[in-house]
Amino acid sequence: MTGKHTAVSCANIAFVKYWGRKDDVLRLPLNSSIAMNLDHATTQTTVAFDPTLTADHVTIENTGTTPQAARRVSDHLDRIRARAGIETRARVVSRNSFPMGAGIASSASAFAALTAAACAAARITLSERELTILARQGSGSACRSIPAGFVEWHTADTSAESYAESIAPPEHWDLRDLITIVQTEHKKVGSTTGNALVHTSPFADARLAAAERALTIIREALLARDFATFGEETEQEALRMHAVAMTSRPSLLYWSPSTVRILQAVRAWRENGLPAYCTIDAGANGHVLCEGIHAAAVEAKLRALDGVQDVIANRPGPGTHVINTHLF
Ligand code: DP6
Repeated sequence: MTGKHTAVSCANIAFVKYWGRKDDVLRLPLNSSIAMNLDHATTQTTVAFDPTLTADHVTIENTGTTPQAARRVSDHLDRIRARAGIETRARVVSRNSFPMGAGIASSASAFAALTAAACAAARITLSERELTILARQGSGSACRSIPAGFVEWHTADTSAESYAESIAPPEHWDLRDLITIVQTEHKKVGSTTGNALVHTSPFADARLAAAERALTIIREALLARDFATFGEETEQEALRMHAVAMTSRPSLLYWSPSTVRILQAVRAWRENGLPAYCTIDAGANGHVLCEGIHAAAVEAKLRALDGVQDVIANRPGPGTHVINTHLF
């Protein structure tokens, strides 16, 4: 027994999306992406390697543990065991602060926290960059949950070059992501499948070229805290990702009527002088972006919309960190 080790990671919301891979095994993305960690959407994971176990024992609280999820966790532990030169099986308990599989990047915070906790438990010390490379192989977006605040993940042809790094700390900008929950059940088609279907859309190349342009626009607007430019390009980028998803074969339609209602409402508020924009991941929930001074007004309006079950208000969050509060 090497003792228990626990890590906490924030989910992240991508402004330039990761949608499509050039290598499905290493999870090398087609394009670079930029995201913000979400301080109120976290995963806490405890790992202990235990020589008395004959198999990994994985518990994902809140949602129950499917065999597929447990398998994916074990596969990731294998990467860490290989790195550490051990074969010991592990006990893993993970708890989310938010509903899983509903378009909040639960795999991002889950694999970031798993990577950090398992590396600590296996007594391997990696740099932040190495942790992002390892987390990426569990779930692409997880690499962006390792560094703090606003994070860019680089596309590359080799694993060693496809890492994530912070481009601004959490205090850089009081940007808010109001996650507008309209659906809490697990989505039918996960982002792993969606990511693998990108090449079947006739719009894949156009979206990729646009995402490359958006990377510079969004990075610069974010660093300059230019909300209008940032929000406009971020909303467009989400629409482009969903245009590819909708036109993939099979077609992936993540939106519900409530998603469209949120998009239309946000546009109407904008026209009436309340600055807010919307982005959407691989699920029906809206992620409504605004600056801190408008957050209370935007949240009140969102809560009054038909079909909205809850709003989780997020500020820019910290990077993955190890803590002493264990789950078992
Ligand atoms: C729409 O990181 O969940 O949230 O690498 O297969 O685990 P896997 O995919 P995942 O995809 C995230 C897709 C997205 C956009 C984004 O977060 O960039």
